[in-house]
Amino acid sequence: MQYGKDDVTRWDFGNPGRARPGLQRFSAMLPVTEDQFVTLGEGDTPLHATSRLAKYLGLENLYVKDESRNPTHSYKDRLSAVAVSYAKKVGAPAVATASSGNAGASLAAYAARAGLPCVVASMKGAAGPMVSQIRKLGAHLILMEDKTQRWPFLAEAAKRYGWFITSPYSAPVIGSTPIGIEGYKTIAYEIYQDLGRVPDWIALPVCYGDALAGIHQGFVDLKDSGTTSRIPRFLAAEAHGSLARAMSSGSERVDAVTAEYETLASSVGAPQSAYQALMALRQSEGVAVKITNEGLLELQELVGSLEGLFFELASVMPFAAVRQLRKQRVVASDDLVVCLATASGLKDIDKSTREWAEIPINRQPQEELLEAAKSAAQQTLARLSNVPSDAAT
Ligand SMILES: Cc1ncc(COP(=O)(O)O)c(C=O)c1O
Repeated sequence: MQYGKDDVTRWDFGNPGRARPGLQRFSAMLPVTEDQFVTLGEGDTPLHATSRLAKYLGLENLYVKDESRNPTHSYKDRLSAVAVSYAKKVGAPAVATASSGNAGASLAAYAARAGLPCVVASMKGAAGPMVSQIRKLGAHLILMEDKTQRWPFLAEAAKRYGWFITSPYSAPVIGSTPIGIEGYKTIAYEIYQDLGRVPDWIALPVCYGDALAGIHQGFVDLKDSGTTSRIPRFLAAEAHGSLARAMSSGSERVDAVTAEYETLASSVGAPQSAYQALMALRQSEGVAVKITNEGLLELQELVGSLEGLFFELASVMPFAAVRQLRKQRVVASDDLVVCLATASGLKDIDKSTREWAEIPINRQPQEELLEAAKSAAQQTLARLSNVPSDAAT
Protein backbone atom coordinates (compact mmCIF):
# COMPACT_ATOMS: atom_id res chain seq x y z
CA MET A 1 0.00 0.00 0.00
CA GLN A 2 1.19 3.52 -0.66
CA TYR A 3 0.14 6.63 1.22
CA GLY A 4 1.16 10.24 0.74
CA LYS A 5 4.02 11.08 3.13
CA ASP A 6 2.89 14.72 3.12
CA ASP A 7 -0.20 13.70 5.06
CA VAL A 8 1.94 12.36 7.89
CA THR A 9 4.18 15.39 8.06
CA ARG A 10 1.12 17.65 8.27
CA TRP A 11 0.04 15.97 11.52
CA ASP A 12 1.05 17.89 14.59
CA PHE A 13 2.63 15.18 16.76
CA GLY A 14 4.17 17.72 19.06
CA ASN A 15 0.90 19.27 20.14
CA PRO A 16 -1.80 16.78 21.15
CA GLY A 17 -5.26 18.32 21.26
CA ARG A 18 -6.11 17.24 24.77
CA ALA A 19 -3.43 17.34 27.44
CA ARG A 20 -5.59 15.34 29.88
CA PRO A 21 -8.16 13.03 28.35
CA GLY A 22 -11.25 11.63 29.97
CA LEU A 23 -12.78 12.77 33.22
CA GLN A 24 -9.77 14.73 34.40
CA ARG A 25 -10.41 17.54 31.98
CA PHE A 26 -13.65 18.21 33.87
CA SER A 27 -12.00 18.20 37.31
CA ALA A 28 -13.05 21.81 38.01
CA MET A 29 -16.56 20.39 38.35
CA LEU A 30 -15.53 17.27 40.31
CA PRO A 31 -14.58 16.72 43.98
CA VAL A 32 -10.97 15.75 43.13
CA THR A 33 -8.25 17.76 41.43
CA GLU A 34 -6.47 16.66 38.24
CA ASP A 35 -3.42 15.59 40.22
CA GLN A 36 -5.46 13.50 42.65
CA PHE A 37 -7.11 11.47 39.88
CA VAL A 38 -6.74 7.70 39.91
CA THR A 39 -7.32 6.92 36.26
CA LEU A 40 -7.45 3.97 33.90
CA GLY A 41 -8.43 6.10 30.90
CA GLU A 42 -12.19 6.27 31.57
CA GLY A 43 -14.61 8.57 29.77
CA ASP A 44 -14.47 10.07 26.27
CA THR A 45 -16.67 7.24 25.07
CA PRO A 46 -18.02 7.31 21.52
CA LEU A 47 -21.38 8.80 20.64
CA HIS A 48 -22.47 6.81 17.60
CA ALA A 49 -24.97 8.23 15.12
CA THR A 50 -27.12 5.31 13.99
CA SER A 51 -29.01 4.88 10.74
CA ARG A 52 -30.58 1.41 10.55
CA LEU A 53 -31.47 1.28 14.25
CA ALA A 54 -32.86 4.81 14.00
CA LYS A 55 -35.01 3.71 11.08
CA TYR A 56 -36.25 0.67 12.97
CA LEU A 57 -37.29 2.90 15.88
CA GLY A 58 -38.80 5.49 13.54
CA LEU A 59 -36.33 8.24 14.45
CA GLU A 60 -34.44 10.71 12.32
CA ASN A 61 -31.71 11.22 14.90
CA LEU A 62 -30.75 8.41 17.23
CA TYR A 63 -27.36 8.37 18.93
CA VAL A 64 -25.85 5.72 21.16
CA LYS A 65 -23.42 6.71 23.90
CA ASP A 66 -21.29 3.58 24.16
CA GLU A 67 -20.20 3.26 27.78
CA SER A 68 -18.95 -0.29 27.20
CA ARG A 69 -15.78 1.42 25.99
CA ASN A 70 -14.73 2.32 29.52
CA PRO A 71 -11.78 0.43 31.08
CA THR A 72 -13.88 -2.25 32.82
CA HIS A 73 -16.53 -2.07 30.09
CA SER A 74 -19.25 -0.21 31.96
CA TYR A 75 -20.27 3.33 32.87
CA LYS A 76 -19.49 2.55 36.53
CA ASP A 77 -15.87 3.52 35.84
CA ARG A 78 -16.89 7.16 35.98
CA LEU A 79 -18.20 6.66 39.51
CA SER A 80 -15.25 4.51 40.59
CA ALA A 81 -12.60 6.88 39.22
CA VAL A 82 -13.97 9.78 41.24
CA ALA A 83 -14.89 7.78 44.36
CA VAL A 84 -11.55 5.96 44.58
CA SER A 85 -9.59 9.16 43.93
CA TYR A 86 -11.51 10.76 46.78
CA ALA A 87 -11.10 7.73 49.08
CA LYS A 88 -7.36 7.89 48.49
CA LYS A 89 -7.29 11.64 49.07
CA VAL A 90 -9.02 11.29 52.46
CA GLY A 91 -6.84 8.33 53.48
CA ALA A 92 -9.51 5.58 53.56
CA PRO A 93 -7.91 2.22 54.43
CA ALA A 94 -10.08 0.29 51.92
CA VAL A 95 -13.02 0.67 49.55
CA ALA A 96 -16.07 -1.58 49.46
CA THR A 97 -19.32 -1.97 47.57
CA ALA A 98 -22.45 -4.04 47.27
CA SER A 99 -22.77 -5.08 43.64
CA SER A 100 -24.53 -7.37 41.23
CA GLY A 101 -21.36 -7.21 39.12
CA ASN A 102 -20.47 -4.03 37.22
CA ALA A 103 -19.91 -1.75 40.21
CA GLY A 104 -17.79 -4.44 41.89
CA ALA A 105 -15.63 -5.07 38.83
CA SER A 106 -15.11 -1.37 38.34
CA LEU A 107 -14.28 -0.65 41.97
CA ALA A 108 -11.87 -3.60 42.05
CA ALA A 109 -9.97 -2.17 39.09
CA TYR A 110 -9.68 1.38 40.41
CA ALA A 111 -8.79 0.17 43.92
CA ALA A 112 -5.97 -1.91 42.44
CA ARG A 113 -4.82 1.09 40.44
CA ALA A 114 -4.83 3.21 43.61
CA GLY A 115 -3.10 0.52 45.67
CA LEU A 116 -6.10 0.13 47.97
CA PRO A 117 -7.80 -3.06 49.14
CA CYS A 118 -11.32 -3.65 47.78
CA VAL A 119 -14.17 -5.73 49.20
CA VAL A 120 -17.19 -6.61 47.05
CA ALA A 121 -20.37 -7.99 48.55
CA SER A 122 -22.32 -9.69 45.76
CA MET A 123 -24.98 -12.36 45.75
CA LYS A 124 -26.01 -15.76 44.52
CA GLY A 125 -27.13 -15.50 40.88
CA ALA A 126 -24.77 -12.66 39.86
CA ALA A 127 -23.66 -12.90 36.21
CA GLY A 128 -20.66 -15.26 35.87
CA PRO A 129 -18.39 -13.08 33.70
CA MET A 130 -18.68 -10.16 36.12
CA VAL A 131 -17.95 -12.38 39.12
CA SER A 132 -14.82 -13.62 37.32
CA GLN A 133 -13.84 -10.06 36.45
CA ILE A 134 -14.06 -9.01 40.11
CA ARG A 135 -11.86 -11.92 41.18
CA LYS A 136 -9.30 -11.41 38.42
CA LEU A 137 -8.94 -7.80 39.54
CA GLY A 138 -7.91 -8.86 43.02
CA ALA A 139 -10.91 -7.86 45.14
CA HIS A 140 -12.08 -9.84 48.13
CA LEU A 141 -15.45 -11.20 46.94
CA ILE A 142 -18.29 -12.33 49.17
CA LEU A 143 -21.38 -14.00 47.66
CA MET A 144 -24.34 -13.59 50.01
CA GLU A 145 -27.20 -16.08 50.03
CA ASP A 146 -29.69 -13.23 50.40
CA LYS A 147 -28.84 -9.88 48.85
CA THR A 148 -30.38 -7.92 51.75
CA GLN A 149 -27.47 -9.16 53.91
CA ARG A 150 -25.06 -6.94 51.98
CA TRP A 151 -25.99 -3.53 53.35
CA PRO A 152 -25.81 -4.29 57.12
CA PHE A 153 -22.45 -5.94 56.49
CA LEU A 154 -21.13 -2.82 54.73
CA ALA A 155 -22.63 -0.46 57.32
CA GLU A 156 -20.78 -2.33 60.06
CA ALA A 157 -17.53 -2.32 58.05
CA ALA A 158 -17.79 1.46 57.59
CA LYS A 159 -18.36 1.97 61.31
CA ARG A 160 -15.77 -0.50 62.55
CA TYR A 161 -12.94 -0.13 60.00
CA GLY A 162 -13.60 3.24 58.34
CA TRP A 163 -13.85 1.72 54.86
CA PHE A 164 -15.10 4.01 52.11
CA ILE A 165 -18.35 2.46 50.85
CA THR A 166 -19.28 3.44 47.30
CA SER A 167 -22.69 1.71 46.97
CA PRO A 168 -25.87 2.29 48.95
CA TYR A 169 -25.82 0.55 52.32
CA SER A 170 -28.92 1.74 54.15
CA ALA A 171 -32.62 1.17 53.61
CA PRO A 172 -34.67 2.76 52.17
CA VAL A 173 -32.15 3.21 49.37
CA ILE A 174 -30.55 6.64 49.07
CA GLY A 175 -28.28 5.83 46.10
CA SER A 176 -24.52 5.35 45.81
CA THR A 177 -21.98 7.73 47.33
CA PRO A 178 -22.76 11.29 46.13
CA ILE A 179 -19.01 11.75 45.59
CA GLY A 180 -19.04 9.03 42.91
CA ILE A 181 -22.32 10.17 41.36
CA GLU A 182 -20.55 13.44 40.54
CA GLY A 183 -18.56 11.39 38.00
CA TYR A 184 -21.73 10.73 35.97
CA LYS A 185 -22.08 14.46 35.28
CA THR A 186 -19.28 14.02 32.74
CA ILE A 187 -21.63 11.95 30.54
CA ALA A 188 -23.76 15.09 30.12
CA TYR A 189 -20.71 17.26 29.40
CA GLU A 190 -19.41 14.83 26.76
CA ILE A 191 -22.80 14.44 25.05
CA TYR A 192 -23.15 18.20 24.83
CA GLN A 193 -19.60 18.62 23.51
CA ASP A 194 -20.10 15.93 20.88
CA LEU A 195 -23.53 17.04 19.69
CA GLY A 196 -23.09 20.78 20.11
CA ARG A 197 -26.66 20.89 21.38
CA VAL A 198 -28.88 19.45 24.10
CA PRO A 199 -30.71 16.29 23.01
CA ASP A 200 -34.49 16.14 23.34
CA TRP A 201 -34.33 12.82 25.18
CA ILE A 202 -31.79 10.74 27.05
CA ALA A 203 -32.97 7.16 27.49
CA LEU A 204 -31.12 5.02 30.03
CA PRO A 205 -31.48 1.89 32.18
CA VAL A 206 -32.28 2.75 35.78
CA CYS A 207 -31.80 0.84 39.00
CA TYR A 208 -31.18 3.11 42.00
CA GLY A 209 -31.03 6.04 39.61
CA ASP A 210 -27.39 7.05 40.18
CA ALA A 211 -26.67 7.69 36.51
CA LEU A 212 -29.99 9.45 36.01
CA ALA A 213 -29.35 11.81 38.94
CA GLY A 214 -25.73 12.48 37.93
CA ILE A 215 -26.37 13.11 34.22
CA HIS A 216 -29.32 15.33 35.10
CA GLN A 217 -27.04 17.36 37.38
CA GLY A 218 -24.48 17.64 34.56
CA PHE A 219 -27.08 19.21 32.29
CA VAL A 220 -28.24 21.48 35.13
CA ASP A 221 -24.58 22.63 35.50
CA LEU A 222 -24.49 23.50 31.79
CA LYS A 223 -27.76 25.42 32.05
CA ASP A 224 -26.75 27.23 35.25
CA SER A 225 -23.49 28.33 33.66
CA GLY A 226 -25.42 29.83 30.74
CA THR A 227 -23.87 27.36 28.28
CA THR A 228 -27.28 25.92 27.39
CA SER A 229 -30.82 27.13 27.80
CA ARG A 230 -32.57 23.88 28.66
CA ILE A 231 -32.05 20.31 29.84
CA PRO A 232 -33.11 17.10 28.05
CA ARG A 233 -36.08 14.99 29.05
CA PHE A 234 -35.07 11.71 30.63
CA LEU A 235 -36.56 8.35 29.74
CA ALA A 236 -35.96 5.87 32.56
CA ALA A 237 -36.14 2.20 31.59
CA GLU A 238 -36.65 0.15 34.74
CA ALA A 239 -37.27 -3.52 35.41
CA HIS A 240 -39.81 -3.31 38.20
CA GLY A 241 -41.28 0.17 37.93
CA SER A 242 -40.82 1.97 41.28
CA LEU A 243 -40.21 5.31 39.52
CA ALA A 244 -43.10 4.79 37.10
CA ARG A 245 -45.39 4.24 40.06
CA ALA A 246 -44.14 7.28 41.99
CA MET A 247 -44.45 9.42 38.85
CA SER A 248 -48.03 8.40 38.23
CA SER A 249 -49.11 8.68 41.88
CA GLY A 250 -47.51 12.11 42.26
CA SER A 251 -45.76 10.85 45.40
CA GLU A 252 -42.70 12.57 46.88
CA ARG A 253 -41.36 9.14 47.87
CA VAL A 254 -40.21 6.20 45.81
CA ASP A 255 -41.70 3.18 47.51
CA ALA A 256 -40.37 -0.31 46.81
CA VAL A 257 -42.55 -2.33 44.45
CA THR A 258 -43.03 -6.09 44.48
CA ALA A 259 -40.75 -7.74 41.93
CA GLU A 260 -43.33 -9.67 39.91
CA TYR A 261 -40.83 -11.60 37.81
CA GLU A 262 -37.11 -12.28 37.65
CA THR A 263 -35.51 -9.89 35.19
CA LEU A 264 -32.92 -11.18 32.74
CA ALA A 265 -31.30 -7.76 33.11
CA SER A 266 -29.77 -8.74 36.42
CA SER A 267 -27.82 -5.49 36.81
CA VAL A 268 -31.02 -3.49 37.32
CA GLY A 269 -33.01 -5.98 39.38
CA ALA A 270 -33.63 -3.83 42.49
CA PRO A 271 -37.32 -3.01 43.16
CA GLN A 272 -36.70 0.50 44.50
CA SER A 273 -35.08 3.60 43.07
CA ALA A 274 -33.80 6.65 44.97
CA TYR A 275 -35.47 9.99 45.67
CA GLN A 276 -33.00 12.04 43.60
CA ALA A 277 -33.84 9.94 40.53
CA LEU A 278 -37.50 10.84 40.94
CA MET A 279 -36.60 14.52 41.31
CA ALA A 280 -34.44 14.38 38.16
CA LEU A 281 -37.29 12.79 36.22
CA ARG A 282 -39.84 15.34 37.42
CA GLN A 283 -37.57 18.35 36.82
CA SER A 284 -36.81 17.18 33.30
CA GLU A 285 -40.45 16.36 32.50
CA GLY A 286 -39.24 12.83 32.03
CA VAL A 287 -41.00 9.50 31.80
CA ALA A 288 -40.36 6.12 33.44
CA VAL A 289 -41.36 2.88 31.74
CA LYS A 290 -41.25 -0.69 32.92
CA ILE A 291 -39.39 -3.02 30.57
CA THR A 292 -39.94 -6.76 31.02
CA ASN A 293 -37.97 -9.71 29.62
CA GLU A 294 -40.29 -9.97 26.63
CA GLY A 295 -38.37 -9.43 23.41
CA LEU A 296 -35.21 -8.27 25.20
CA LEU A 297 -32.90 -10.93 23.75
CA GLU A 298 -34.26 -10.31 20.25
CA LEU A 299 -33.72 -6.57 20.65
CA GLN A 300 -30.16 -7.16 21.88
CA GLU A 301 -29.48 -9.14 18.71
CA LEU A 302 -31.21 -6.57 16.53
CA VAL A 303 -29.05 -3.74 17.91
CA GLY A 304 -25.99 -5.95 17.39
CA SER A 305 -26.81 -6.94 13.83
CA LEU A 306 -28.02 -3.51 12.70
CA GLU A 307 -25.24 -1.39 14.18
CA GLY A 308 -22.41 -3.68 15.31
CA LEU A 309 -22.96 -2.78 18.96
CA PHE A 310 -23.20 -5.53 21.59
CA PHE A 311 -24.62 -4.51 24.94
CA GLU A 312 -25.57 -6.07 28.22
CA LEU A 313 -29.30 -6.83 28.58
CA ALA A 314 -29.78 -3.95 31.01
CA SER A 315 -28.27 -1.64 28.39
CA VAL A 316 -30.76 -2.84 25.78
CA MET A 317 -33.69 -1.64 27.91
CA PRO A 318 -33.46 2.03 26.79
CA PHE A 319 -33.99 0.94 23.17
CA ALA A 320 -37.10 -0.98 24.26
CA ALA A 321 -38.29 2.10 26.17
CA VAL A 322 -37.80 4.34 23.12
CA ARG A 323 -39.68 1.81 20.97
CA GLN A 324 -42.55 1.87 23.45
CA LEU A 325 -42.73 5.67 23.63
CA ARG A 326 -42.45 6.05 19.86
CA LYS A 327 -45.49 3.81 19.50
CA GLN A 328 -47.35 5.95 22.03
CA ARG A 329 -46.14 9.06 20.16
CA VAL A 330 -44.62 10.51 23.33
CA VAL A 331 -41.27 10.58 21.51
CA ALA A 332 -41.65 12.22 18.08
CA SER A 333 -39.87 11.05 14.94
CA ASP A 334 -37.86 14.28 14.73
CA ASP A 335 -36.81 14.29 18.40
CA LEU A 336 -33.07 13.92 18.91
CA VAL A 337 -32.63 10.88 21.14
CA VAL A 338 -29.51 9.61 22.89
CA CYS A 339 -29.61 6.08 24.31
CA LEU A 340 -27.08 5.41 27.05
CA ALA A 341 -25.67 1.91 26.62
CA THR A 342 -24.18 1.33 30.05
CA ALA A 343 -22.21 -1.91 29.63
CA SER A 344 -20.84 -4.51 27.22
CA GLY A 345 -22.72 -7.61 26.09
CA LEU A 346 -19.84 -9.75 27.30
CA LYS A 347 -20.75 -8.87 30.90
CA ASP A 348 -23.82 -11.12 31.16
CA ILE A 349 -23.24 -13.40 28.21
CA ASP A 350 -24.11 -16.39 30.41
CA LYS A 351 -27.61 -14.94 30.84
CA SER A 352 -28.13 -13.80 27.26
CA THR A 353 -26.82 -16.84 25.37
CA ARG A 354 -29.61 -18.83 23.79
CA GLU A 355 -29.80 -22.48 22.82
CA TRP A 356 -29.08 -21.74 19.17
CA ALA A 357 -25.58 -20.76 20.21
CA GLU A 358 -24.70 -24.46 19.96
CA ILE A 359 -23.66 -24.68 16.31
CA PRO A 360 -23.17 -28.31 15.21
CA ILE A 361 -19.75 -29.19 13.80
CA ASN A 362 -19.95 -28.95 10.02
CA ARG A 363 -20.12 -32.20 8.01
CA GLN A 364 -21.22 -30.71 4.67
CA PRO A 365 -19.02 -30.70 1.55
CA GLN A 366 -17.40 -27.34 0.77
CA GLU A 367 -19.60 -26.65 -2.30
CA GLU A 368 -22.76 -26.84 -0.17
CA LEU A 369 -21.15 -24.75 2.51
CA LEU A 370 -20.25 -22.01 0.03
CA GLU A 371 -23.77 -21.97 -1.41
CA ALA A 372 -25.36 -21.76 2.05
CA ALA A 373 -22.97 -18.99 3.17
CA LYS A 374 -23.61 -17.03 -0.05
CA SER A 375 -27.36 -17.22 0.41
CA ALA A 376 -27.01 -16.17 4.08
CA ALA A 377 -24.91 -13.18 2.97
CA GLN A 378 -27.57 -12.20 0.42
CA GLN A 379 -30.32 -12.45 3.03
CA THR A 380 -28.32 -10.27 5.42
CA LEU A 381 -27.78 -7.65 2.74
CA ALA A 382 -31.49 -7.61 1.92
CA ARG A 383 -32.38 -7.30 5.60
CA LEU A 384 -29.91 -4.47 6.22
CA SER A 385 -30.93 -2.48 3.17
CA ASN A 386 -34.62 -2.70 4.00
CA VAL A 387 -35.03 -2.29 7.77
CA PRO A 388 -38.74 -2.15 8.63
CA SER A 389 -39.84 0.61 10.99
CA ASP A 390 -41.50 -0.61 14.16
CA ALA A 391 -42.80 2.82 15.12
CA ALA A 392 -45.86 4.95 14.64
CA THR A 393 -45.82 7.01 11.46
C1 LIG B 1 -25.14 -2.09 33.21
C2 LIG B 1 -25.95 -1.27 34.15
N1 LIG B 1 -26.79 -0.37 33.65
C3 LIG B 1 -27.56 0.40 34.46
C4 LIG B 1 -27.51 0.29 35.83
C5 LIG B 1 -28.41 1.21 36.62
O1 LIG B 1 -27.94 1.71 37.82
P1 LIG B 1 -28.23 3.20 38.35
O2 LIG B 1 -29.65 3.53 37.98
O3 LIG B 1 -28.08 3.13 39.82
O4 LIG B 1 -27.25 4.10 37.71
C6 LIG B 1 -26.64 -0.65 36.42
C7 LIG B 1 -26.55 -0.82 37.88
O5 LIG B 1 -25.82 -1.52 38.44
C8 LIG B 1 -25.83 -1.43 35.54
O6 LIG B 1 -24.93 -2.31 36.03
